[in-house]
Amino acid sequence: MNNTNMSWLNGLPKVELHLHLEGSLEPELMFSLAKRNRVGIPFDSIQAVKEAYQFNNLQDFLDIYYQGANVLLVEQDFYDLTWAYLLKCKEQNVIHVEPFFDPQTHTERGVAFKTVINGITRALDDGASKLAISSELILCFLRHLPQSSAFSTLEQAMPFLDQIKAVGLDSSELGNPPEKFSEVFSRARELGLLTVAHAGEEGPAEFIATAIDDLQVSRIDHGVNAFHDEALLQRLITTQMPLTVCPLSNTKLKVFDNMAEHTILKMLERGVCVTVNSDDPAYFGGYMTENFMALVEALDLSQQQALRLVENSINASFVSAQAKSKMMEKLQTYQ
Ligand code: HPA
Ligand code: ZN
Repeated sequence: MNNTNMSWLNGLPKVELHLHLEGSLEPELMFSLAKRNRVGIPFDSIQAVKEAYQFNNLQDFLDIYYQGANVLLVEQDFYDLTWAYLLKCKEQNVIHVEPFFDPQTHTERGVAFKTVINGITRALDDGASKLAISSELILCFLRHLPQSSAFSTLEQAMPFLDQIKAVGLDSSELGNPPEKFSEVFSRARELGLLTVAHAGEEGPAEFIATAIDDLQVSRIDHGVNAFHDEALLQRLITTQMPLTVCPLSNTKLKVFDNMAEHTILKMLERGVCVTVNSDDPAYFGGYMTENFMALVEALDLSQQQALRLVENSINASFVSAQAKSKMMEKLQTYQ
């Protein structure tokens, strides 16, 4: 593919399955919310914020990401955050999204669970009616906090279960293995929720296996560390367990030294159900189109491979068979 690719990739109907709403907070919106809410932020300018976004690892990023979320206080803030992301999706022809939100990041600061979820779901509803973008919402537990805090969060989510499709697990992976959350995930499944978990981003391949076995996840978020464990790779291929891979995130957080080292296309060619996603686009330098473009530039992604990656996302999404067929049709008629 060459340069006309940017517009071909932008117009390609896409599906996003790994996106933290708090990670879509652009510096411009951070500044305007800080002003509106009279919250102090440790930056003098938008330029200074952008310059601070240099990370050596996941924890470096998380420290700045939680700090950024401090400007989110009232329902309208969560609406504005979500709406800005959906407008970006519209621009890039992302037709279906399954975003994460981190309620504990807000409830720990005294913001009510309902303030967070009402703002988000109002924007997602408008996304469906005004932008024709469908969505399913995923509640993520912060794995650096104890399981008791996750249980309390699930309790707070009870009145809103009809607006939540799944629970997930994010934040600091090292030292916080999936089995730390076995009971709360089991309770979530009893309540009819699906499950996903970040695993094998910085953590070992073993965490991917325990997320599957103990948490009974339907997808693995990241999962790139499966590549060097042949038995696990075989298992992922046989079961078609989806991996929501985030190329720009992985290079920004130094999971790979550079994009040329990224193994996503090797896994695709082996038959793993890998997908492309943006993770925290405001922090990692791009949304869906930029993530695909990065694969074109460093790994010579072909149009046929791009189509297969989107097909994988459609198959891995949490919508009905009928909704999947409709998305497949859109994809197949795209030139
Ligand atoms: N990994 C873990 N936690 C996160 C991430 C991630 O990539 N993004 C936001 N929270
Ligand atoms: Zn993530």
